[in-house]
Amino acid sequence: MNRIFSGIQPTGNLHLGNYLGAVRNWVRLQNDYECLFCVVDLHAITVWQDPAELTAHTREVAAAVLAAGIDPRRNILFVQSHNPDHAQLAWILNCVARMGWLNRMTQFKDKAGKNRENASVGLFAYPNLMSADILAYRATHVPVGEDQKQHLELARDTAQKFNNDYGVDLFPLPEPVILATAARIMSLRDGTKKMSKSDESDYSRINMTDDADTIELKLRKAKTDPLPLPDSVEGLEGRPEAANLLDIWAALSDGTRAAAIERFGGRTFSEFKKELTELAVSVLGPISSEMKRYLADPAELDAILAKGAADARALSAPVLADVSKVVGFLKA
Ligand code: TYM
Repeated sequence: MNRIFSGIQPTGNLHLGNYLGAVRNWVRLQNDYECLFCVVDLHAITVWQDPAELTAHTREVAAAVLAAGIDPRRNILFVQSHNPDHAQLAWILNCVARMGWLNRMTQFKDKAGKNRENASVGLFAYPNLMSADILAYRATHVPVGEDQKQHLELARDTAQKFNNDYGVDLFPLPEPVILATAARIMSLRDGTKKMSKSDESDYSRINMTDDADTIELKLRKAKTDPLPLPDSVEGLEGRPEAANLLDIWAALSDGTRAAAIERFGGRTFSEFKKELTELAVSVLGPISSEMKRYLADPAELDAILAKGAADARALSAPVLADVSKVVGFLKA
């Protein structure tokens, strides 16, 4: 049986990279798979979060996922800390995965920066919690952006080592599902850097809550180069900003980079940006108003999340019971 698990951190608002790289993909997959989608607050606190903001962002991210089209009657949407099985399994996986494996994680190196000694232990062990998220449900497919690929390889290695060490076939090896068109949406200020919640400049990203005027302003100010748009895909070589804006167009219009070039090749950035703004506003506007509707009535949202947590726990409890038995924990 195929089962999907994916997660998103409530470290800020959702941005266009999260939407195009992950959530939009979730919306498609919900028709074909049994799906669990999780707002991963335990992951968020691996770096400092203001408590009141964490609470607000957790609701905002859940609202954005619903507003983007996830149907809570057909899927499980929940908050990670509401199901303690994630933390329980993460500890067990901390004892399976090797230091050397985690030392190779590029995201830890990026986030810890030069001051590794001062990074939280949680930031280092983060990938094991992510493995636990997936394996607690014996999920088979994980839709993510390109930046999570290395973490998923680690989840596969850890699942395999657990199975080998204990001589069982308990965990399936989860497969990444990465969309080609929007695997890596880049910053609007620098086409070589990933669009990210943690970038200091708000002009580097489009947030799901930005209104039409803000989207227009951010795209107008987005970095470009002096040439018109190229006539061929090869002409994008060495032009990361042009490539990124065309990819955003392609993803928002459900098309390809080649189709975007066919349409805009030879035209100026300013003409292209006008059409891109119209498209972005038409796709994001309805999502942002639906999100506001959910946030205006947190009781409905909280009820959806409470049901999600109960349904999630019902699925993870038997897996955790099997794991405990295999490991040799005395039955409670
Ligand atoms: P997070 O919260 O950073 O991002 C959520 C999802 O958005 C994707 N993404 C992007 N895709 C394309 N272009 C971008 N610029 C961009 N920025 C972010 C991410 O790849 C991700 O799919 N560790 C995860 C959360 C997580 C998780 C999990 C995911 C925790 N447990 C279990 C899958 C399964 C993270 O930090 O995502």
